Amino acid sequence: MRKPIIAGNWKMNKLTSEAVELAREVKDKTGTIADREIVLCPPFTVLSAVKEVIKGSSIKLGAQNMYWEVRGAYTGEVSPTMLKDIGCNYVILGHSERRQYFGETNETVNKKAKIAFSIGLIPIVCVGETLQQREKGETLTVIEEQVKTGLSGLTKEESKGLVVAYEPVWAIGTGKTATPEEAEEVQRFIRKLLGQMFGKENAQAIRILYGGSINPDNISVLMSCEDIDGGLIGGASLNVESFLKVVRY
Ligand code: 13P
Repeated sequence: MRKPIIAGNWKMNKLTSEAVELAREVKDKTGTIADREIVLCPPFTVLSAVKEVIKGSSIKLGAQNMYWEVRGAYTGEVSPTMLKDIGCNYVILGHSERRQYFGETNETVNKKAKIAFSIGLIPIVCVGETLQQREKGETLTVIEEQVKTGLSGLTKEESKGLVVAYEPVWAIGTGKTATPEEAEEVQRFIRKLLGQMFGKENAQAIRILYGGSINPDNISVLMSCEDIDGGLIGGASLNVESFLKVVRY
């Protein structure tokens, strides 16, 4: 069985004291939870501080982006080895905000995914269609391209550890969640594609998260879908009460 992941993507929020407080509360109040994996993805600036807080717990640390080289003259970038060095387990790649505002493409996601695995970081690769693409009936074509190019060249062995997140762009930060049927249709399609790429059995092991306006009220019904193996939570992860409710769906 696939162990569900509840991951909080804090995006560009939380100063050090706020991050430490939130992480400490999450740690203190989730200590006994063993049947799901909790991942915190704070901004780069507080990764070390959050790592210090969650030390000794089963909470995992994730970054929100990285570069595809391990070192060099790349002013302003952060390398996979740097993330590994400070204790990250996961890295979010290809989030739609990075695609939309910072020129991330399926090709750059692919370079990042490959190096992440080689360094021992697990990529959480985000895919998702815009509202315009959905309305034009292009959803599955867009997803197929994102999955096939973004994950091309990964080995079957690597694929087993992979995490994919389906985040319809129109559902992010809008309060408009995909219905379980809408989400499940795409999640199932993603697993089918993963099966073609990495073999059916491996695809069964891959966790596919949903993200987009998840909150304490809609998490349970989403999690009841067969191919939804967890959530990537934005806004609701910034507040301890709502995040804990989502964690305990
Ligand atoms: P919201 O939960 O705020 O819609 O954000 C989702 C998201 O982008 C998580 O990566």
